[in-house]
Amino acid sequence: MRRHLLSIDDLDVDDIDTLFATAAEMHDVQRREVKKLPALRGRTVINLFFEDSTRTRSSFEIAGKWLSADTINIAAKGSSASKGESLRDTVLTIAAMGVDALVMRHPASGAALQVSQWVDAAVINAGDGTHEHPTQALLDAYTLRRRLGTLEGQKIAIVGDLTHSRVFRSNVLCLTKLGAEVTVVAPPTLMPSGIGPWSAQAGFATSYDLDEVLPEADAVMMLRVQRERMSGGYFPSPREYTVGYGLTRDRLGVLGPDVPICHPGPMNRGLEIAADAADAAQSAVLDQVSAGVAIRMAVLYHLLAGEES
Ligand code: NCD
Repeated sequence: MRRHLLSIDDLDVDDIDTLFATAAEMHDVQRREVKKLPALRGRTVINLFFEDSTRTRSSFEIAGKWLSADTINIAAKGSSASKGESLRDTVLTIAAMGVDALVMRHPASGAALQVSQWVDAAVINAGDGTHEHPTQALLDAYTLRRRLGTLEGQKIAIVGDLTHSRVFRSNVLCLTKLGAEVTVVAPPTLMPSGIGPWSAQAGFATSYDLDEVLPEADAVMMLRVQRERMSGGYFPSPREYTVGYGLTRDRLGVLGPDVPICHPGPMNRGLEIAADAADAAQSAVLDQVSAGVAIRMAVLYHLLAGEES
């Protein structure tokens, strides 16, 4: 495994299998009454978040704590970044305190890669702009593999605001690497430009027609409509988006009862996903959250206590 986790491309299939095996052990720790392992005692993990987050930040914090690392959260709103300090100065300041891992979320695509060139600490990308979110893709693939047994040959539909989604980009890379047949679905306005050559090269399909894709799907992953990243009108009205691309109650009826429904959260209930689908017995949403802790424990463990260190 490499020193940083910036992209799914940093991992080969063996690395992903190793992380999943460790995550399965960590999952067992999660069920214990005393959830502490000594593996990262004396190590310091900083969560540096320049964008809002609920589950990613808290699950990295819990993951670090359960491995006995000292974890500290820095939110850009309360830091000197809001006083005009540059990203480089902020990061070098933190690194100078003696940090082992920097978990970073930033609105600029490529920010984590840039930071990894400035510091000695292991850098984990917890979301960089619209680029990648590798630990989210790992926890999604881990959750789906547990539900489906294998990802090999499984038809997985990823549906929603693809243009603004780092979750989609990391997931396509991860799921195709693990042998899944991925189809991504979006309205033309939310289909990223240039996706044609990329999909041909990476081996996934694209569609504008959710109703054609759903009956074939072995798993469905709904993505949030990221209104905070939209400047213009990407669709005429929320109602129209739901009619074309929402996982509505009617569409839920088309899915087999064992087809897992994923959503990375936060969900816009009633927009991209109906409450009936989010709360259905086949919904994997809360499994994803609990897998998130296990996966992040595995990532921290391998980057900080792995064979190479
Ligand atoms: C995603 C993110 O922030 O990239 N959420 C998450 O990490 N669970 C997706 C989103 O914001 O819609």
